[in-house]
Amino acid sequence: MIRTENRQETITRVSSIAEMKGISASLLKQNLTIGFVPTMGCLHEGHLKLIKRSLESCDRTVVSIFVNPTQFGPNEDLDSYPRELDSDIGKLEAAGVDILFHPTVEEMYPAGYKTYVEVQNISEHLCGKSRPDLFKGVTTVVLKLFNIVRPHNAFFGEKDWQQLAVIEALVKDLNLDVAIIRVPLVRESDGLAMSSRNRYLSSQERQTALSLSQSLKEAQDNIRRGTTSAKAISDSIRQCLAEKEACEIDYISICDPESFKEKEQIRGRTLIALAVKVGPSRLIDNCIIEEF
Ligand code: PAF
Repeated sequence: MIRTENRQETITRVSSIAEMKGISASLLKQNLTIGFVPTMGCLHEGHLKLIKRSLESCDRTVVSIFVNPTQFGPNEDLDSYPRELDSDIGKLEAAGVDILFHPTVEEMYPAGYKTYVEVQNISEHLCGKSRPDLFKGVTTVVLKLFNIVRPHNAFFGEKDWQQLAVIEALVKDLNLDVAIIRVPLVRESDGLAMSSRNRYLSSQERQTALSLSQSLKEAQDNIRRGTTSAKAISDSIRQCLAEKEACEIDYISICDPESFKEKEQIRGRTLIALAVKVGPSRLIDNCIIEEF
């Protein structure tokens, strides 16, 4: 539905779950559609694209900013994860977002918290292999956020392709009344996939990080020229990445985009996904090879 109601000038900031639930209940009572963009803040153009899609298609847009501790492993970057609430609020206001939900960790996970929800199988591949806590934390917090915000539509970027598939499975398997809207990955003008973690990169590391999108582009060109062997494509990506310093490959996966099963031959729709540590940042990128 296109928004027709009068919008307020400033964003409503909510940190209490009870208050957020009350606002959503009132919007639902007025038959207004709720669009929801869950984030961990440090907003960039990729987030703003999700927000734009929500503003265009829903009466009210709620954005959450919550750095979710349960999706970080013990040696990961929870403490150093960038937090820029004031500048994020400026961006949300400029975009015309109606409500910001930014709960504290204690509000979301009070002492004695003990319930987690897990999507099996597809959570165990790719990022789930090297970050075993990741998807259990994501599905738990996303289900909690859906229960609090009660959106009609929730918007997620295809940069986190596996996360999207896991959330779609969560919604389908638990019969949740929310439509998951996929939004294509957004790149910087030089090809680097947008990510909050890009700001950890030094200028040298940023140059190195370009090899992710460059190696994917080269892979797509090779496939167009007739290469069908997944090993050949994976070897060429590895070679492209290995040429760069400070580049530590976590995985190169050439797999089915729904089951995440590795492929030997590139036939049918195929996902090529990478995770690479560049300096302090673990970066991911992907592309889809459509059936040809
Ligand atoms: O993609 C993210 O930023 C996070 O994983 C999400 C979906 C907000 C859950 O914490």
